[in-house]
Amino acid sequence: MVTSNAAVIVSINDVYRELPGILNLVQNNGGSIQHLETRKSRQSEKDFDVFLDVKADKQQMSLVGQALKASYNTISFTESSKAAPKASMKKTISLDKGDTKFIGNIAVLVDLDIADGVPWFHRHISDLDKSANRVLMYGDELDADHPGFKDEVYRKRRKEFAELAYTYRHGQPIPRIVYTDEEVNTWGTIFRELTKLYPTHACKEYLQNFPLLEKHCGYKENNFPQLEDISNFLRQRTGFTLRPVAGYLSSRDFLAGLAFRVFHCTQYIRHSSDPLYTPEPDCCHELLGHMPLFLDANFAEFSQEIGLASLGVSDEEVQKLATCYFFTVEFGLCKQNGDLRVYGAGLLSSIGELKHVLSDRAVHQPFEPQNVCKVECRITTFQDQYFVSESFEEAKDKLRAYARTIKRPFELKYDPYTQSVEVLDHPKAIAKSMKHLQADMDMLRSAVSKLPSFGVCI
Ligand SMILES: [Fe+2]
Repeated sequence: MVTSNAAVIVSINDVYRELPGILNLVQNNGGSIQHLETRKSRQSEKDFDVFLDVKADKQQMSLVGQALKASYNTISFTESSKAAPKASMKKTISLDKGDTKFIGNIAVLVDLDIADGVPWFHRHISDLDKSANRVLMYGDELDADHPGFKDEVYRKRRKEFAELAYTYRHGQPIPRIVYTDEEVNTWGTIFRELTKLYPTHACKEYLQNFPLLEKHCGYKENNFPQLEDISNFLRQRTGFTLRPVAGYLSSRDFLAGLAFRVFHCTQYIRHSSDPLYTPEPDCCHELLGHMPLFLDANFAEFSQEIGLASLGVSDEEVQKLATCYFFTVEFGLCKQNGDLRVYGAGLLSSIGELKHVLSDRAVHQPFEPQNVCKVECRITTFQDQYFVSESFEEAKDKLRAYARTIKRPFELKYDPYTQSVEVLDHPKAIAKSMKHLQADMDMLRSAVSKLPSFGVCI
């Protein structure tokens, strides 16, 4: 049988929704895909161009061509004996480890669109729609050593959660989940055991905010709280919101969420066979570890600063910031009234490590971002060392100083009114920001002048 290849370019709007249809169409008409790439579309009305190298016999190729042209905006369909990506398209493709999405067994590589050495970055909160599904693992695709690997019911359930996250878009309410008795029991066991340790281990900000979650968001042993309720409450307090995610994101995409005060949050729960162990972040980790701290204004600001520092910087710098995030937001300690207390979510959701970190066996070092960013992160064991800040304020100042050493040819300013970042790369933009700052300063001077005891200070 004589086969040939065809180089096909199709334009689509939603790579995650439309791409599976294209793959199925090729397969159903007898073709096989030898190569697949995507890039930002050169057509203004479309988001992505998809390049396919399709192999098929003559009759099948004809069917594939007809079907693609009938169903999709097919820019070109060029049959040849050997198809290869066009050189111009290959040049624009830039990938790193975190930017691979698997659909079935096919790795879909999403373009980062590097311009002038600056990687593409999120400008508006809704841009998170473009990256939130670039998960490294999701649904029922569990590793062989995962406690739920052989449990078909659990895998099916994981797939349901993955689908909810997969179809979620910015601005929508987060779907409510009817958790099973088994899931509520798992949550209850973790809740019961961890809440025994918090009074003696958690930082004061955590202890102040936890009761608020009990009061306003349904935190209790026999009830699994809903992400939508927590997200709404966070928004009122610190402007943070939650966004459901199907699994691990790359460091770049995860940190980008923080820049817009969005926390990508899993909605599934660990396997019930071992409630006190999970090989991956799950909803118990997010809700018990992270949420109380996102209710603290200083902590929220600190988290957003890490996110903003990550936008548009190199992979190497993103990794260093991710390490700073890891040893603060996940595994950080602070000093309070002369004692060490925990604020890291990875610790606050792990009974074993929470006990270990405040014991004499743990190594404690001061938090200095330029050193911390080079430390190895342990995933399956306790950390070799933990880093201590005097306060979130101090951690934020140090991180801000560190962020200024990162190479980026412009500064970014977050605009909370439009939920977007402004690039301060020309005098007009900087002058506009200075004007706003001047107006704020005038208002503060006026406020101070109205306080009798401070009237002469400024
Ligand atoms: Fe976490």
